[in-house]
Amino acid sequence: MRVLITGLNGYVAWYLLQNIPPEVEVAGTLRPGVTNTFKFPARSLDLEKDISSQLSNSPADAVIHTAALSSLAACEQNPRKAMRVNAQATGELARWCARNKVRMIYLSTDIVFDGEQAPYAPDDPPSPVNWYGKSKYAGEQHVLRECPERGTVIRLPLLLGPSPHKKNFTDWFLERARANREIPLFYDEVRTPLPTEEAAGKIWDCLLTGQRGVIHLAGKKSYNRMELGRKLALEYNVPGAKLKALSLKSASVPRPRDVRLKS
Ligand SMILES: NC(=O)c1ccc[n+]([C@@H]2O[C@H](COP(=O)([O-])OP(=O)(O)OC[C@H]3O[C@@H](n4cnc5c(N)ncnc54)[C@H](OP(=O)(O)O)[C@@H]3O)[C@@H](O)[C@H]2O)c1
Repeated sequence: MRVLITGLNGYVAWYLLQNIPPEVEVAGTLRPGVTNTFKFPARSLDLEKDISSQLSNSPADAVIHTAALSSLAACEQNPRKAMRVNAQATGELARWCARNKVRMIYLSTDIVFDGEQAPYAPDDPPSPVNWYGKSKYAGEQHVLRECPERGTVIRLPLLLGPSPHKKNFTDWFLERARANREIPLFYDEVRTPLPTEEAAGKIWDCLLTGQRGVIHLAGKKSYNRMELGRKLALEYNVPGAKLKALSLKSASVPRPRDVRLKS
């Protein structure tokens, strides 16, 4: 099976590349001008430009669409760009997949929920409170509408694990802890985090077993960010990490309070 991974140099993509199933042949996409340092072929794809014309002659049986504007702050600063990159481009990709009979896995987020009615099941109605969530939810709707027979939406929780490429929460935490810097953490933000390695394995399973519709991936236990900070400090042996409890009220971007996911 030929699988095209968009955003080959992203955080989740790196974990997908560590554990490629034997029957899968990977190719990827990179933003124009980004050098391909991977051992996989990559083509250029800019989500701010028309998608189908950039993908002509791309042989693929499936796409795992990881590329996104994934920073809450960047989406809030530029909602128009968030909607183009996360929503409209996803719709164009979904149409391309439907037209070419290509399976599509779209990675979405627990942040499509408003955080007031957790835990959330896949068919609970999203009601995002920020532009990241709004743009990702609009992307979901495009996938389900444009590619109903071959599209799958996988909602991910907060992912845990370091990466040599894109920095994520764990890298941010460890960098601060090792530099003896204060680590501000929301005591009132609750998530069901999952190790990224486990999430990547489940994404591959979902593709290979042909699951459809909307799927939630989540850890079994919920944590607020302070609890998570203590857990990471133990796990990565940084016992002196200077955790500082903050309330979501001080967040610069609106964030949902409790987005525990259930499958
Ligand atoms: N990481 C998490 O904890 C988490 C949790 C829930 C959901 N998700 C979802 O999972 C997916 C993957 O997340 P991630 O953490 O791997 O994100 P990431 O590390 O920020 O990677 C995003 C990828 O998208 C590419 N990209 C961004 N803007 C682009 C554009 N205009 N044109 C082409 N490529 C563009 C980036 O390329 P450049 O490097 O060139 O910018 C990068 O390869 C996202 O859809 C995200 O919403 C992630």
